[in-house]
Amino acid sequence: MLLAFLVLATSGILAANAQCQTSLSWKNAPSMKDSGLTSFVIASMTKPRGIRFVNDTLLVIDVGVGLVSLRENVDNCNGWTKTVLVQNADLNHGLVVNGTQIYASSVDTVFRYEWNPSTRTVSGNEQIVTGMDLAANHKTRTLDISGTYLLVSSGASENLETEATSPSHGTAQIRRFAINSTVPSGGYTWFQGELVAVGMRNAVGIAVAGNNLWTVENSADELNYTSGSQLVDIHEDNPAEELNVVDLSDIGHSYGYPECFTAWDMKEVIPDSSLNTGDQFSIVPNVTDAQCGNTTFNKAPRLSMQAHSAPLDIVFYKAPSNVTAVTVKPEYNSHAFVSFHGSWNRDPPTGYGIVRIPWSGNEPTAQPNAKDGYSFVLQGDLTRCPDGCFRPVGLAFDSTGRLFGSSDSTGEVSFASR
Ligand SMILES: *[C@@H]1O[C@H](CO)[C@@H](O)[C@H](O)[C@H]1NC(C)=O
Ligand SMILES: *[C@@H]1O[C@H](CO)[C@@H](O)[C@H](O)[C@H]1NC(C)=O
Ligand SMILES: *[C@@H]1O[C@H](CO)[C@@H](O)[C@H](O)[C@H]1NC(C)=O
Ligand SMILES: *[C@@H]1O[C@H](CO)[C@@H](O)[C@H](O)[C@H]1NC(C)=O
Ligand SMILES: *[C@@H]1O[C@H](CO)[C@@H](O)[C@H](O)[C@H]1NC(C)=O
Ligand SMILES: *[C@@H]1O[C@H](CO)[C@@H](O)[C@H](O)[C@H]1NC(C)=O
Ligand SMILES: *[C@@H]1O[C@H](CO)[C@@H](O)[C@H](O)[C@H]1NC(C)=O
Repeated sequence: MLLAFLVLATSGILAANAQCQTSLSWKNAPSMKDSGLTSFVIASMTKPRGIRFVNDTLLVIDVGVGLVSLRENVDNCNGWTKTVLVQNADLNHGLVVNGTQIYASSVDTVFRYEWNPSTRTVSGNEQIVTGMDLAANHKTRTLDISGTYLLVSSGASENLETEATSPSHGTAQIRRFAINSTVPSGGYTWFQGELVAVGMRNAVGIAVAGNNLWTVENSADELNYTSGSQLVDIHEDNPAEELNVVDLSDIGHSYGYPECFTAWDMKEVIPDSSLNTGDQFSIVPNVTDAQCGNTTFNKAPRLSMQAHSAPLDIVFYKAPSNVTAVTVKPEYNSHAFVSFHGSWNRDPPTGYGIVRIPWSGNEPTAQPNAKDGYSFVLQGDLTRCPDGCFRPVGLAFDSTGRLFGSSDSTGEVSFASR
């Protein structure tokens, strides 16, 4: 018995787990924070960012390469086969699948390809949206689908961009584009899209759930806050990163940036502050904290997250009805999972992991003022960050309920399962 087990384990195939394993090992393994889950590396790439499944094929945007597929060799348990589907070094993050249609984005353009299920190749190369290269420092153009609409999220040009208050400036916003016979040849321009939200500094992760669009927003750095006559440096733990919700039947509202922000821990730096986690505050002289708290002027987030976490993706877990030995705990069904790319200059570093947000009905279980609305599933070795550790970007569940993730700093694509 023992000998047989050792032989199987060292050959890289663990039949007991009902899944194949690869011989790849982590450069620097993240530690599992959720007992009962294990993680495996399946591929080494250049700079993997957005990931999505089309049936059982994992699609990856590998920056500098293009659109790449990974397919598990389930018959012989011989790892994952990597195929470059589209060579386009400009593709840098955004990716979404709608049936057999694949949308992928560069800084400037959303392209569409047609997936052929029998050959597992793509054809076609249409431009659906162009003229998106408006923001100097935030280059991702994240994509999702809402019925006949393609949603595109684009960040602000810089840390604090005054002009972003104006919808006609085109930055720090989400727009939607009707995909039917009205798509102009050569594609829509950015400004032909209908405004879904404005005042989201850099909502990199977006996910539609029913009639709601959930976004994870990377908030500003280096903020100071005027408290009485003093200008206080609040940047270590404020503002919070935001989980926002957009009601897709009531669109076009502002989410506050660059005037209003969300408190994470203000009392740490201003002991007599009245601002609690989740409260809105202003950093400009012509807007008051009370005005930021007015939901007509500024939509506050539904949940706050530690400052500098850098959330890049959000996916909802739909537990398969066929639960197997690898399925991530079915009791997490409908919960949201978010990747934290992590701080670039905070000391000590924070983030660098995948978190789970418990969900009940149509919203997070935790209240908007909670500090404990999420918990880590796995986390990189913070002593090796930012350059040598796991930095998750894209997330996707497969049909068996395994949670896949990309890490651009290490080039690894991996999954977590039971
Ligand atoms: C997914 O798989 C099903 C069953 O094999 C097939 O009918 C369908 O065409 C596939 N869809 C795509 C988008 O590949
Ligand atoms: C997504 O696919 C559905 C079903 O084919 C279609 O009705 C819808 O228009 C598509 N949406 C987009 C944005 O491509
Ligand atoms: C295209 O879709 C949009 C949004 O659903 C709709 O308003 C428009 O009438 C559609 N156009 C055509 C030609 O179907
Ligand atoms: C906050 O104050 C610091 C120190 O004076 C300064 O370097 C920084 O630029 C200020 N931040 C903003 C956003 O103005
Ligand atoms: C506050 O002042 C800035 C800079 O002048 C301006 O862009 C912004 O529109 C003002 N905001 C409000 C709510 O008046
Ligand atoms: C809230 O903001 C809206 C839009 O700026 C404004 O019309 C309304 O008067 C404000 N409400 C209060 C109570 O200040
Ligand atoms: C459930 O999943 C296992 C493993 O993927 C598979 O062998 C089995 O056929 C599936 N059962 C059903 C009823 O789909």
